[in-house]
Amino acid sequence: MLGRVISVANSKGGVGKTTTTVSLAEAFAAEGYKTLVVDLDSQANASLLIFGEDGDERLYDAIHAYTNVSDYLRENFLGECFAHMSKFIVPNASDVTYLDQTLDLSLVPATPGLRRAERELIYTLTEQGYSMTAIEGRVGLRLRQDMADLRKQYDIVICDCPPGISAMTEATLSASDLIIVPTIPDFMSTLGLDLFTGDIIDSLKKRGLSNVPIVLATKYDDSNHQKDVLAAMRDGARDPDIEYDMFETVIPNRPEFAANPIELGPRPSFNQKWPGEAMNTINMLYQEVQTRLAAQTKTEVA
Ligand SMILES: Nc1ncnc2c1ncn2[C@@H]1O[C@H](COP(=O)(O)OP(=O)(O)OP(=O)(O)O)[C@@H](O)[C@H]1O
Ligand SMILES: [Mg+2]
Repeated sequence: MLGRVISVANSKGGVGKTTTTVSLAEAFAAEGYKTLVVDLDSQANASLLIFGEDGDERLYDAIHAYTNVSDYLRENFLGECFAHMSKFIVPNASDVTYLDQTLDLSLVPATPGLRRAERELIYTLTEQGYSMTAIEGRVGLRLRQDMADLRKQYDIVICDCPPGISAMTEATLSASDLIIVPTIPDFMSTLGLDLFTGDIIDSLKKRGLSNVPIVLATKYDDSNHQKDVLAAMRDGARDPDIEYDMFETVIPNRPEFAANPIELGPRPSFNQKWPGEAMNTINMLYQEVQTRLAAQTKTEVA
């Protein structure tokens, strides 16, 4: 088992977090890695994109079977019981095929009720006298314990974080080996990028972790403005005072990345879901992620 945890996060919305999560998870699963996606966003976009054509029905089933991340939070932090995250997994969640085999991709789905569950968690624990830092600490500790077990069952766990920053996101980042920060290289999208990555680093440092978030340029349209901003981002990554690194891979702004499960129909192939240039780019990103994970393993062994 590789046993690695990746988080995809950015406080900005609509920058390609979910597209990155799902395409990367499918790339790992297509290569034969046992893969789990944890959807932490109440919009449930990653869940629907993974479930495919029957997404609505399958999400409804996950709500009724209590196999979703909202019930994970409720059971562990609002009830009296201890329920391991593995209890909330939907196995064989993907309907995507590769070489005629269905991808081995499992999912802890999010539901629209997650917003409420998170709010209740904050109110309840605040009433019990917990500070915000203590709440993040408590949720983080639980998540890290659960992730430690999931690492033994899965090669790769990828967490799709919501926009904004929540106790659950903070906790997830603290349990991750690799943090990917999709960012559109334009003026508005890069405002506050170094603050976001700096905050992540500070919070990881408090837990004795030295991970540096890796920025992924997304929705790149090759305009002069984006070219300039991308060059400035690359300069920033080389500056020792700015705390992020960058992938070489750049995700172009192309309709091939905007997969629509309804239009794709049942059991699309991996290549149908991400056609043409999208597939080449996803493979480049996959290779870079593998290289970074391998480098971490070497450092751990040394
Ligand atoms: N490279 C791309 N080219 C064109 N469209 C894209 C690309 N990446 C994502 N999209 C589309 O942009 C929209 C936002 O993408 P996505 O949902 O992945 O972003 P997000 O950061 O997860 O958003 P949110 O913050 O709401 O969770 C979606 O409609 C998606 O299909
Ligand atoms: Mg998203």
